[in-house]
Amino acid sequence: MMQLQIIESPEQMQQFALAARQRGERIALVPTMGYLHEGHASLMREGRRRADLLVVSIFVNPTQFGVGEDFEKYPRDMARDSALAAAAGVDVIFAPTAAAMYPHGYQTYVDAGPLTEPLCGASRPGHFRGVTTVVCKLFNIVQPDVALFGRKDYQQLAVIRQMAIDLNMPVEIAGMPIVREPDGLAMSSRNVYLSPAERGRALALKRALDAARTAFAAGERSVNALENLLKGVLSQEDGVEIDYAEIRDGMTLERSDFAVSGSLAAIAVRVGKTRLIDNCLLGAD
Ligand code: PAF
Repeated sequence: MMQLQIIESPEQMQQFALAARQRGERIALVPTMGYLHEGHASLMREGRRRADLLVVSIFVNPTQFGVGEDFEKYPRDMARDSALAAAAGVDVIFAPTAAAMYPHGYQTYVDAGPLTEPLCGASRPGHFRGVTTVVCKLFNIVQPDVALFGRKDYQQLAVIRQMAIDLNMPVEIAGMPIVREPDGLAMSSRNVYLSPAERGRALALKRALDAARTAFAAGERSVNALENLLKGVLSQEDGVEIDYAEIRDGMTLERSDFAVSGSLAAIAVRVGKTRLIDNCLLGAD
């Protein structure tokens, strides 16, 4: 097995990747913003299984954060991340600087379509433009055969899949199951912001999704009723401010009056200053 290498330069990473491809090696990429957790580790283990060269990118991408969001305080710990990546069998950490990714004079962005408009796109204007731009750049730099993303960021995964299709990107986009703490909280680098009291309140997300799932299993199909159920459970918890709690088509993310098997239940809330998201597919998860 190769020893873990850290590459900072995009040019060096690209040369490394092109040489690997010329040797016939398959490359897997797990794009991250660091502060890695078990959810990332599950993506890495799957990447390890699927490729000869496993690359994890660690880059807190400034273009996907809005004004007043947590870009500056986003948790960063390269020593901890390197240890977790090494344990998961990662070959290369690609950790560029913002100046290397967006040098002076940078001006090209990828604008995806209607999938970016609802849910997180509505509350975080410009967010997905930053995501698709950086992911497109990462694909060009790392040249992956397969890229792995977590389904916790369901909309992000849908947007990236669509981008890869629309722009003929020769990469397989693999979506992997949400990894949860034993009490049900979806793993996220942002969970570190939560105080113990907020951490308790955050369990309302999973409770709300479970309530919608149970109601759907019992025959409830009205989107309004299911959304009211989500909102009702969330608002029972003091200190949980709802950003959105919606039922959408699992593929197009469009709204309709009735839910079907595979409809998406998606939630975003603020617990204190921390924004948390979670989701499930009704009748499927
Ligand atoms: O999901 C994330 O961590 C980020 O949005 C991603 C895909 C690494 C792009 O910066």
